Amino acid sequence: MNMPHQPVLYKEIIHALQPKSPGRYIDGTIGAGGHARGVLEACAPDGCLLGFDLDPQALALARETLAPYGKRVTLVQASYDSLIEVMRGIGWDSADGILLDLGLSSMQLDTPERGFSIQHEALLDMRFNPDAGLTAAQLVNTASEAELANMFFRYGEEPRAKRIAKMIIEARPLTTTTQLAEIAKRVYPSHSRIHPATRIFQALRIAVNNELAVVENALPKAVSALHPGGRLAVISFHSLEDRIVKDFFRSASQDQINPPYEQIYEVERKAILKVINRKPITPSEEEIKANPRARSAKLRVAEKLPE
Ligand SMILES: C[S@@+](CC[C@H](N)C(=O)[O-])C[C@H]1O[C@@H](n2cnc3c(N)ncnc32)[C@H](O)[C@@H]1O
Repeated sequence: MNMPHQPVLYKEIIHALQPKSPGRYIDGTIGAGGHARGVLEACAPDGCLLGFDLDPQALALARETLAPYGKRVTLVQASYDSLIEVMRGIGWDSADGILLDLGLSSMQLDTPERGFSIQHEALLDMRFNPDAGLTAAQLVNTASEAELANMFFRYGEEPRAKRIAKMIIEARPLTTTTQLAEIAKRVYPSHSRIHPATRIFQALRIAVNNELAVVENALPKAVSALHPGGRLAVISFHSLEDRIVKDFFRSASQDQINPPYEQIYEVERKAILKVINRKPITPSEEEIKANPRARSAKLRVAEKLPE
């Protein structure tokens, strides 16, 4: 089958989730359904998969890819941070494995009118769900200079955030990807192969979709949705996301001791997770060669402990 999106760390995900029949699996970011298909193959004949995406185009494609699995698949247009409500809504009380493959898909990046790409002239949109919320243009044209600078610094780690914010204010209103990219080019007249607008595009996309808050909010919910022994696998594509996953896994895998004032320590909350890989799993040289967009992927896996 022709796959428009090549699933990143595909074998590693199947190995991490260890899908079995008749297990229940959640793919919080179904995209084109590449990982989901592998999970459904591995948990045949009776395993089921619940898939989420905010993007109706992704869901339509996943529906097509996963049609051969019939009733074993349920797809919903919702954010993965609502996984508990949605899971209960279809009558599941827990899941045996959960995958989050964060960020945007190649399909979204390669569709110019979605406004994610620096390379294509398009309206600045960047919403995962193109029917809800503020577009990137609305955000850029209404935020204050300080808010813009803060956004570029925090979500893009952009060293010249203040200067770029000031130039945006002077150039407003901005409507297209190219207008924004041009501002970054003026701030970095001589630049390397990496486009100088890369960091501010990342920052805007994160802000438009509230991405970091959604991951932070979803991780504890994902753990509480898991059956003991079930696994949570998260692929992130930049250090801001990976830090959230790493810190959450670290704190959830330790007993929380409280209060530390006396010699007698009381265990307030037991560890709820076992971290499977201390260091993140990264793509092989071979995978990066075949799919250069995989190069910054980091996979972290944890297992829910018995209560
Ligand atoms: C990297 S792609 C996933 C690719 C997928 N694993 C595959 O094999 O094709 C990420 C997907 O997550 C979706 N997404 C991003 N944030 C989301 C959220 N909060 N809830 C649900 N889906 C989200 C995006 O629309 C995109 O389709």
